[in-house]
Amino acid sequence: MKIQKSLFGTMPDGAAVEQFTLSNGNGVVCQLLNYGVRIASLRVPDAKGNPADVVVGFDHLDGYLQNDYISAVCGRVANRIGGAKFSLDGKTIKVSANEGENQLHGGKCGFDKKIWRAEAGQIGVEFACVSPDGEEGFPGNLNVKVIVALTDADELRLDFTAITDKPTPVNLTSHAYFNLAGRGNVLDHELMLAADFYTPVDSHLLPTGEIKSVRGTGLDFTTPKAIGSQMKKFPEIVSGYDHNFVVNGGGKSPVLAARVREPISGRIMETWTTQPGVQLYTANHFDGFAGRGGARCEKFGGFCLETQHFPDSVNHPGFPSVILRPGETYRQTCIYKFIHERL
Ligand code: BGC
Repeated sequence: MKIQKSLFGTMPDGAAVEQFTLSNGNGVVCQLLNYGVRIASLRVPDAKGNPADVVVGFDHLDGYLQNDYISAVCGRVANRIGGAKFSLDGKTIKVSANEGENQLHGGKCGFDKKIWRAEAGQIGVEFACVSPDGEEGFPGNLNVKVIVALTDADELRLDFTAITDKPTPVNLTSHAYFNLAGRGNVLDHELMLAADFYTPVDSHLLPTGEIKSVRGTGLDFTTPKAIGSQMKKFPEIVSGYDHNFVVNGGGKSPVLAARVREPISGRIMETWTTQPGVQLYTANHFDGFAGRGGARCEKFGGFCLETQHFPDSVNHPGFPSVILRPGETYRQTCIYKFIHERL
């Protein structure tokens, strides 16, 4: 595995945005930015050896400044916090609201908008940042590390850790948008989700607190199905997927949460996680903005498999807790593994 560092761009305040290019011996090449720990590019060969970029991204920093969360790490708390408040140890904590009355992906200036310290190591790049006490309303100084590694087994592996000096919620995720064809939309991609249950939401996309079976709904991907075929069949999903699934058998070591196959190229991506949930998001808000090489990023132009704790866990005592306390270490691993099918 080789790593090269270069300058990608300069932030409006003059800060340098560094780019790290990781390549393994199998033709997989990944570009990471220290602006939001973004996966800016991931070139993966298909069954015939033809490479394509399988993540949505931009050639220039401007694209990332103008389009939120694209292929970045989100935190301190990914997804929504209802009413931008919660109670912790008997106190009400108010955090910044950036989507109506709610908070989305850590607030106005979440981890996706930070310039992280970055250092290339033997297996990948280590990114670090400190989120100070009170940032976006969250208590405690939080020290966060994300190690992004590219293995010879064609896995992109993200290992997250965090420590705090006051109790605080932590729920980090990778908001990478994938498209295994490298162009067009993802409606023909065949998806398997190892999830028998999901967490239903209200009209503001806030969980109701229920955990329901996927059986008989458009969310049943327990056997592989084309994403678009389910949208057609189930009218309630016509505008796309934006749902949190409960990963079967989630635990301390990574389990398989999802497998996606693109039928024309034969590219397959597996997602492995230590987290209890995975948010499937099908780029429902993409509006034709210009992406890499000027290509239009239209609705359903990518899919995210955001491995994480359930949305709004801070307001649902029945969901697994996201509270990190001093002396504890938050740990989670997300692996995106690529397989080239023989056609
Ligand atoms: C959320 C969507 C949101 C999107 C923004 C996803 O993680 O589930 O509701 O619109 O992020 O990029």
